[in-house]
Formats: sequence, C-alpha cells, structure tokens
Amino acid sequence: MYLEYILYPFLSTSKLCYYYLMKSTKLTKTFTQTMLLLKEFWKHPQKVGAICPSSPRLARVMARQIDKTRDGWIIEIGAGTGAVTEALLDEGVSPSQLIVVEQSESLVDYLRDRFSTLQVIQGDAANLRQLIPVDSQKINAIVSSLPMLSLPPEQVSSILKEFYALLPADGKLIQYTYDVLSPKAKPLEGFILVKTYSIWLNVPPAKVQVFRKKLT
Ligand SMILES: C[S@@+](CC[C@H](N)C(=O)[O-])C[C@H]1O[C@@H](n2cnc3c(N)ncnc32)[C@H](O)[C@@H]1O
Repeated sequence: MYLEYILYPFLSTSKLCYYYLMKSTKLTKTFTQTMLLLKEFWKHPQKVGAICPSSPRLARVMARQIDKTRDGWIIEIGAGTGAVTEALLDEGVSPSQLIVVEQSESLVDYLRDRFSTLQVIQGDAANLRQLIPVDSQKINAIVSSLPMLSLPPEQVSSILKEFYALLPADGKLIQYTYDVLSPKAKPLEGFILVKTYSIWLNVPPAKVQVFRKKLT
C-alpha cells in the first residue's frame, strides 16, 4: 500500500516519458516518410503525384473496401512509403495474401525494410501480368494509389488494360483521387464506379473510389 504511494511519482513519470517517446517515434516516422516521398516527387513529379503520404483515415477507408469474406490475392499498386499497406494489414489482410508493387527503387528498399514479411515487387504497373506470379481468377482486389491524373494518358491506358485482364468479374478496383471537386468522376476505361467516399481531412482532400469491371 505505502509502496504504491512511494512509487507513484516514478511510475507516472515513466508512463509520461513512454507516451512522449512513442509520440516522438511516430512523428519521426511520419517525417522520414514525408521526406522520402518528397524526394521522389522532386525527381519524378508526374509519377509520384503527391508530396506527403496518405492520411491514416484515407488509408483506412481504402483498406475497408476489401471484401474479407472472399479469398484471393490483394494486389497493392504504388505503395509509396506504405501508408495503405499498413492499413491493409491493420484491417486484417494476411501478409501471405498481399503483394505490393512499386516502381521506385528507393521506395521499394524502404518498403522491404518496413514490411519484411511481404512480397514487394519492383516494376511498372503497365507490365503487371509479367510482374506478379498469380492466376488472375485468384485475385480479390487491386488497391491502387497510382496518380492517374498526372501519369501520361497512354500509360494510364496500358495500366488499366492490365488491371482489366487481371481482375475477375467480381473483383474490385479500389483507387483514390484528388479530383474531389468535379461532380462527375473521371471514368477509368473499362470500369464502372460503384462507390465513392470523400475524405476531406487529407492533404489534399481525396476521394476513395470503388470500381468493378464493365462486362461486355
Ligand atoms: C501518390 S504516391 C502513393 C503513396 C502511398 N500509397 C500513399 O498512399 O501514401 C504514388 C506511388 O505510385 C508509384 N508509381 C507511379 N507510377 C507507377 C507505376 N507505373 N507502377 C508502379 N508504381 C508506380 C510512385 O512511385 C509512388 O510511390
């Protein structure tokens, strides 16, 4: 009983220190990731299309679109520093079910270091079928952070053809965009928009869009 009173100031101080240490570790992580993305943006603005990682809220909304009752691979494209990757794992996607594709060599190094149990593949999403060693009928969803608005239209078209060829009829394409103001969503060739969520508290504000394949 007395011991508790004696130890109380030490315990509460160490709790406070732990809290601030965790907070500063988190801040350092966010700062490192922002600097890394900013450096990539500086080198390839069109390819990166963002100066800071997605907010945890945006990443969570992306991850929650996955249908967890279905089996199959989750293919994440354009993972950057891993904001959406982290949310996918936090939302219950198994590491053995997830394949991450990223074009930038330095971001791939960072991702492999950060998520050592994941398959992180370096390459251009325009060659997706050659890059990922999976049967297309076994894909649950494609989760893309690619900057479709800033990539050259021919490249977007090749990427969408890959997505179309790989996704089964009931698979989802989950994508975010910073095009929040135009009332009509910019169509993605071969896909129909089925749901949209606005995330105003992101920098910049964003929309999560869920697409299905247009079946002819
Ligand atoms: C907007 S950043 C996404 C960052 C991260 N997912 C996030 O939400 O914080 C877009 C990422 O897509 C990658 N990327 C751009 N074009 C690509 C392509 N053709 N194939 C694969 N990755 C690509 C860029 O290197 C960049 O890391």
